[in-house]
Amino acid sequence: PLVSGTEFLKAAHKGGYGVGGFNTNNLEWTKAILEAAEAKKAPVLIQTSMGAAKYMGGYKVCYDLVKDLVDSMGITVPVAIHLDHGEYEDALECIEIGYTSVMFDGSHLPFEENIEKAKDVVAKAHAKGVSVECEVGSIGGEEDGIIGSGELADIEECKQMVATGIDYLACGIGNIHGSYPDNWTGLAFDHLQAISDAVGDIPLVLHGGSGIPLEQVQKAISMGVSKINVNTECQEVFAAATRKYIEEGKDLEGKGFDPRKLLAPGTKAVTELVEQRIEWFGSTNKA
Ligand code: G3H
Ligand code: ZN
Repeated sequence: PLVSGTEFLKAAHKGGYGVGGFNTNNLEWTKAILEAAEAKKAPVLIQTSMGAAKYMGGYKVCYDLVKDLVDSMGITVPVAIHLDHGEYEDALECIEIGYTSVMFDGSHLPFEENIEKAKDVVAKAHAKGVSVECEVGSIGGEEDGIIGSGELADIEECKQMVATGIDYLACGIGNIHGSYPDNWTGLAFDHLQAISDAVGDIPLVLHGGSGIPLEQVQKAISMGVSKINVNTECQEVFAAATRKYIEEGKDLEGKGFDPRKLLAPGTKAVTELVEQRIEWFGSTNKA
């Protein structure tokens, strides 16, 4: 069923395991993620970025797709439909539409404004039973070919953000979106521990989950990370499987050009990756 993220992420935080937040772009990815979660008996968040929602035809389309598939596929595991990196207006729109979890990402705003808007999103979301994720500092990433190492979130700011009543906190600990550069020095575990100690009993969110080695992901989970976001790696395996299918000329054999056949290998690759990440995070059989 569709549920908010709060309860299962609290359980994950308490139980010392992680739950995946996987980004979707279309019907195939949504089915792939749901199938994997159901096979592993794991709770899961299916998330749409603002760009993905625009691509898919709006938040209502995304919401209806996830909700209807959860019903028609007979999904029994807890599923949250989550807005990823949303602006304030987008968060409010998703709350209205029925999203069960939203990220208001005000990390690019002056800190006071980030806090004020977070409070407002929390009030409106909680009135409808919707969970809220907010971000402090900013997650690094590649910009114009210059690769940032990932900003470390300010501990005092993390505390103030948690005091707004949010349900889970995204904070920079040397993590970055997209693939990690060769000279990446890894997650800043001392900083993660300091944040964890300072904010108390609240699930932390690790963005940029693609490309972090297994041991580091699991260590982060043991230190209070309960939600791990994965996007780029799903795109990579989808593209690789699709390329292989075409390069092998499968699209030229019989009805191999049929989109239902053409998209199948990529979709299967996404399912397999999501299942493997669920294993990594420890949420198998936690539904
Ligand atoms: O919010 C989305 C995630 O942080 C995805 O990061 O593309 O590096 O896996 P990723
Ligand atoms: Zn992110």
